[in-house]
Amino acid sequence: MEKVVSGIRPTGNLHLGNYFGAVKSFVKMQEEYDCMFFIADWHSLTTRPKPEDIQQSARIILAEYLACGIDPQKAPIYVQSDVKETLELYLFLNMNTYIGELGRVTTFKEKARQQPDNVNAGLFTYPTLMAADILQHRAKKVPVGKDQEQNMEMARKCARRFNHIYGVEFFPEPQNFYFSEKAVKVPGLDGSGKMGKSEGNCIYLHDDDKTISKKVMRAVTDMGPQTPNSPRPEVIENLFTFLRICSTEETFKFFDEKWNDCTLRYGDLKKQIAEDICKTVAPIRERITEYTSNTDLLDRIAREGAERARESALATLREVRKIIGFRS
Ligand code: TYM
Repeated sequence: MEKVVSGIRPTGNLHLGNYFGAVKSFVKMQEEYDCMFFIADWHSLTTRPKPEDIQQSARIILAEYLACGIDPQKAPIYVQSDVKETLELYLFLNMNTYIGELGRVTTFKEKARQQPDNVNAGLFTYPTLMAADILQHRAKKVPVGKDQEQNMEMARKCARRFNHIYGVEFFPEPQNFYFSEKAVKVPGLDGSGKMGKSEGNCIYLHDDDKTISKKVMRAVTDMGPQTPNSPRPEVIENLFTFLRICSTEETFKFFDEKWNDCTLRYGDLKKQIAEDICKTVAPIRERITEYTSNTDLLDRIAREGAERARESALATLREVRKIIGFRS
């Protein structure tokens, strides 16, 4: 069975971007592939979280993974920092990764702009740690959102280069995977690019119906359609993206026709979007509350997940050490 791995940084609760960009694919893939999902707590250190928050933040994501439908019997869930083997592969991969290519990664450039006083080496080598996360399981598919495409390209480069330097066919080149036919980018509702924690424009999976409605009703719009069949400006297309991911095809068609014949009222559109988001979120929200209070269960799942992940990582690492010339 093909191996699949993916992870999320525990820098806050899961939002619709995480859900539609990644977690929904996780849930589908666990039925058909050999999956592992993890919580990227080392990656979150680039923004210096408080020590007292680290473990609890990981537990929250774990509870939310379960609430979304990940079944740890089918797909182990582990915390990145419980699998120290990753660090050795990270070191090996860093030895073959050039500073020029790391410097060109747009997320690095963005983060460097956002936190000019803390442009650290961890931020710089973020893509090689991510490559180690993936390659340690020799995963072939990685369910992620569109914003991770460049990091995925770096992971493929790491795999290719390792194989080339040592003249082996050891690492498969991991491919991005989307549950729909296209890469998913969930937009922000504030007229900005994507929904994201650092953008502060998220609808969270734990938000109640009232909060969701309020956030959707505040979404940025414009004067409304002026000429029949005109292209939609970005802020309006963003709203239609929500219809595409949360609503039925008929609902999408209904509002699309209304846009095209200039009879669309944004109030109606937003009400529909809020209703359909609530339908997705409500059952997940209920399960989040159940799981969050069950700390023993969460810790057991993480412990068992780490054991399985370590086994898989160690098997890869033994081979890698041998290939490089160390004792395995
Ligand atoms: P992170 O924690 O920023 O996001 C987790 C996942 O959610 C997706 N995502 C989105 N997808 C579509 N639209 C959005 N607005 C949106 N916002 C977030 C992301 O694409 C991602 O799939 N580098 C990763 C974590 C990571 C990882 C890995 C992922 C570390 N190692 C190995 C896969 C494999 C990150 O920062 O994701």
